[in-house]
Amino acid sequence: MSKKIESHLSEERVFKPSKDFSKKARIKSMAQYKRMYRESIDKPGIFWGREAKELGWQKKWTKALEWKAPYAKWFVGGKINVCESCVDRHLKEGRANKAAIIWEGEPGESRTLTYRQLHREVCNFANVLLAKGIKSKDRVMIYMPMTPEAVIAMLACARIGAVHSVIFGGFSADSIVDRLEDCQAKAMITSDGGYRRGGVVPLKENVDAALKKYKALETVIVHQRIGEIGAPVKMKKGRDFWWHEEAAKVSSHHEPKGFDSEHPLFILYTSGSTGKPKGILHTSGGYLTGTYATCKYIFDMQEDDVYWCTADVGWITGHSYIAYGPLANGVTQVMYEGAPNHPDFGRFWDIVEKYSVSIFYTAPTAIRAFIKAGDHFPDSRDLSSLRLLGTVGEPINPEAWMWYHEKIGGGNCPIVDTWWQTETGAIMISPLPGCTPTKPGTATLPFFGVDAAILDETGEECGPNEGGKLVIRKPWPSMLRSIYGDKKRYRETYWNDYPGMYTAGDGARTDKAGNFWIVGRLDDVLNVSGHRLGTAEVESALVAHKVVAEAAVVGRPHEIKGQAVVAFVTVKGEVKTSDTLAKELRNHVGTVIGAIAKPDAIYFAPSLPKTRSGKIMRRLLKELVATGKVSGNVTTLEDQQVILDLQAQLQQ
Ligand code: WTA
Repeated sequence: MSKKIESHLSEERVFKPSKDFSKKARIKSMAQYKRMYRESIDKPGIFWGREAKELGWQKKWTKALEWKAPYAKWFVGGKINVCESCVDRHLKEGRANKAAIIWEGEPGESRTLTYRQLHREVCNFANVLLAKGIKSKDRVMIYMPMTPEAVIAMLACARIGAVHSVIFGGFSADSIVDRLEDCQAKAMITSDGGYRRGGVVPLKENVDAALKKYKALETVIVHQRIGEIGAPVKMKKGRDFWWHEEAAKVSSHHEPKGFDSEHPLFILYTSGSTGKPKGILHTSGGYLTGTYATCKYIFDMQEDDVYWCTADVGWITGHSYIAYGPLANGVTQVMYEGAPNHPDFGRFWDIVEKYSVSIFYTAPTAIRAFIKAGDHFPDSRDLSSLRLLGTVGEPINPEAWMWYHEKIGGGNCPIVDTWWQTETGAIMISPLPGCTPTKPGTATLPFFGVDAAILDETGEECGPNEGGKLVIRKPWPSMLRSIYGDKKRYRETYWNDYPGMYTAGDGARTDKAGNFWIVGRLDDVLNVSGHRLGTAEVESALVAHKVVAEAAVVGRPHEIKGQAVVAFVTVKGEVKTSDTLAKELRNHVGTVIGAIAKPDAIYFAPSLPKTRSGKIMRRLLKELVATGKVSGNVTTLEDQQVILDLQAQLQQ
């Protein structure tokens, strides 16, 4: 049992929502939660059918769920247009002139799109896509900064039944190639650049580099974000088109057609335990129902809220809790383009004050960075508009939770610590802000319809405070449907441990009150600043460098990032190691994957600690980087001197 968990176990502080909050919340009491939870588990068709009905279907389904493990179909026979549910529906329900997106660019400009304006933009861009020959089920890549156009592009794809795959703007050209190849994309939507920490990210340039390797792409549509400020972008004739020029050629009217509930909506790549990212496939009706209901109950979205999720659209949080869930709820949301520390660490709080944000959703890593930056940043801003706070991405340490509660929430905003994954599509374990007693560090209880449990190796359910594997025992509407193009990997990764149950890959335990405490990944996946990163991906990037013979990558606990990447590298034959080489390798990883994957430290080793059968003993390396020494059993090591040498190197 790690120290971290012991401190969790002794956590006695309990925080209950104020009477005032509960009175106005959608779920007001634990009795109400329990009643609804019971129904959601016993009669999922009735429970989810009621939620789904609110989204406005073109044709009602005939069967709520068809479950042939591990394949689920939700709302079978139903027809829905996800974009219509998120946009057009609000025009009919009196929200036409309500702000849908209030956007703030990093340099400081501000732009508001009402639901009516958003509708016009989305229809217009859907027509652009159609004019370029994009058809239902074609894959369209989106590689854009955090501008409203990124959301417009996603919604326009959904509107015409095309399948989008968003790539985080921090990923490199090589990462784009892998993803293009995997999903055989037909078109790419990008920008000339994006602002980040005062600089310009050359998105189109990265796309150009990627397209030298992937030639099958037919169309690139470029949104002009930077204009003259950046280096002029090259436009390839017949392939590259400016968004605004194409938009001017087509109308802004478009009638949304209904698609099958199981029509693919998007593919989002995420890291697993091999070097190849997995294309997580989500479909339409169930996904939207899950994101809609979680926003409604967990963020308690009300008509006059101003909601802000600080994630990037390149991650699942940006899909479910910027693009789809909030818009399905018709809420007003803030979207911010840039870095939290530009021009300084007061930026987020300036934005909260400027737009009177009432619901704020961010990551523990950001909170830890704010703590380090100093209290004067939040203290000097008016944060009194906030009524609810959320976190996601990694376990939140109790110190960060308390700071968030006191400094940002002023001691009276409930905190929803939300556990979920790219694969789950929507939040799975979380407090409901109007009723659940919270403790710093636990995501508390399962959401409606989520049959979560912790099992030991034999499949027995663990008792309170016994660590085990987190599983979900029943299908839920927003679950992934497969790994794109790889059903075998889908079955083997998620459904092999226990028959008919989804294995999340996280270790967890419950306390006596039934609260779930998530410990962290059980596989070789790191969580760096709330971003998933496979150790195997970084290793294969390193090995692709001409001087590297072998590499092993592990995570080291990091004060702000949660985990930092540390690499052990063996170079080929006569190559001389040096600080310059270490720097070159770091940059190389940045080029192959993206800046987030750059190792914090690289240690050169004449050889890596291996078992007699040749397997690298990552367990020892993990311990070494965390504690500076290896105390555990090393008798299975082929050569014990290797680890002693490394230990000496690290202690220097
Ligand atoms: C971790 C992000 C503890 C977990 C939405 C999970 C968390 C992985 C929490 C998924 C939380 C996410 N508490 N751990 N509240 N939220 N995680 O796919 O290890 O980028 O498996 O989805 O992040 O990361 P992903």
